[in-house]
Amino acid sequence: MLARLTDGTRIVIREIRPTDKRMLARGVELLSEETRRRRFLTAKPRLTRGELRYLTEVDGERHFALVAVLADQLDHVVGVARFVKLPGEGATADAAIVVGDPWQRRGLGRRLALLLADAARERGVRRFSATMLSDNPAAIALMRTLAARLEGGGHAAGIREVAVELAA
Ligand SMILES: CC(C)(COP(=O)(O)OP(=O)(O)OC[C@H]1O[C@@H](n2cnc3c(N)ncnc32)[C@H](O)[C@@H]1OP(=O)(O)O)[C@@H](O)C(=O)NCCC(=O)NCCS
Repeated sequence: MLARLTDGTRIVIREIRPTDKRMLARGVELLSEETRRRRFLTAKPRLTRGELRYLTEVDGERHFALVAVLADQLDHVVGVARFVKLPGEGATADAAIVVGDPWQRRGLGRRLALLLADAARERGVRRFSATMLSDNPAAIALMRTLAARLEGGGHAAGIREVAVELAA
């Protein structure tokens, strides 16, 4: 689908593909250290081959991922959103979203979060959980986009678990 950021940048949002490995690897390299740490919870300078396989070769059901790319440069990723169902009955999924630094605060995170929640509900997911650094107001704001009430999980060693019930 075609979308516009609040600054007018045109982007395309679509499901991730196995052929996105190189684009994703480059996208992660271009993230600031802070954004990378907020997404992966470690310094993680680059993704390994195994991680790239895991992140792009998804089944679209248990593990679902969207990429946002520039409409004028389709091999340039600007954001990624994914959920992975937790083992068990599959009603809860771990969600993670990242937006490239130059495109943050232009509504893309929110757009991806809403699309991700739609795809999750269609696949039987009723609850998102997320693991984030304790000090991550943007991630909390995104979770609040999906549900007014946040369930707080544990806080330990600077890491926080948050969950939301997806509206029907
Ligand atoms: C979290 C993230 C995806 C948000 O993406 P984004 O495109 O900047 O988000 P949006 O522009 O759609 O803004 C969504 C909300 O976050 C708020 N927000 C964004 N950046 C913020 C910041 N640095 N501080 C406080 N609030 C912030 C916005 O005000 C908005 O809130 P509102 O809906 O109440 O107005 C982005 O900051 C990011 O990639 N961070 C690093 C990775 C990460 O932390 N991922 C989440 C944990 S997995």
